[in-house]
Amino acid sequence: MNQRQDRGRFITLEGGEGVGKSTNLAFVKAHLEAAGLEVVATREPGGTPLAEEIRALLLAVREEPMADLSELLMIFAARAQHLATLIEPALARGAWVLSDRFTDATYAYQGGGRGLEVRVIALLEQLVQGDLRPDLTLYLDTPLEIAEARLAGRDLDRFEREQRAFFERVRGVYLQRSVEPRFRVIDASVPLERVQRALATELDRFVGETAR
Ligand SMILES: Nc1ncnc2c1ncn2[C@@H]1O[C@H](COP(=O)(O)OP(=O)(O)OP(=O)(O)O)[C@@H](O)[C@H]1O
Ligand SMILES: [Mg+2]
Repeated sequence: MNQRQDRGRFITLEGGEGVGKSTNLAFVKAHLEAAGLEVVATREPGGTPLAEEIRALLLAVREEPMADLSELLMIFAARAQHLATLIEPALARGAWVLSDRFTDATYAYQGGGRGLEVRVIALLEQLVQGDLRPDLTLYLDTPLEIAEARLAGRDLDRFEREQRAFFERVRGVYLQRSVEPRFRVIDASVPLERVQRALATELDRFVGETAR
């Protein structure tokens, strides 16, 4: 076996607010574990104690407005920590890593939502990640109204307080990016058991291809 085969695979769950990423994370983990794989489930921003502290800074609602570039650099600071202390070691020992959001979310929120230049995001992506990219990205897609209805009644964080146009741009970037071969677009507007059947189909196919 060569080194590449010994390494784990990196799977990300992406999508806008309230599409069901966190709800489906446990399902995806259990499904992969049932196939005999070791799975480390994590999330971004965050995933390590220090990165979770950065997450809290990013989500907190405060009087001082956060500059877009501060936001972007904090996200990549958290990501550098997450990669160095959790993701890379897990992949290196052969575990599969499953993350609730990763860099596609940065392109969608900081690029699409905030309007930061893609070139700047790509530069930081290269600096922080080198060649590391997800092997598979499960993108959960719903029209905005459906996700909004699912989130009704929640206390809103700094991102969730954005206007509708912001989330339309976020979804637009996700849909643009989802033409890349590592993406699977999952219709998340249907009942949960149907979402999970679609996820299972994609996971079984991916695991089958990986074993070859
Ligand atoms: N397919 C579905 N049908 C109906 N309700 C769903 C479905 N998927 C998730 N939900 C519900 O929608 C709400 C939001 O789900 P969840 O918290 O998993 O979304 P999320 O993508 O993690 O959101 P966030 O981006 O805010 O973290 C939860 O109450 C969850 O039970
Ligand atoms: Mg969530």
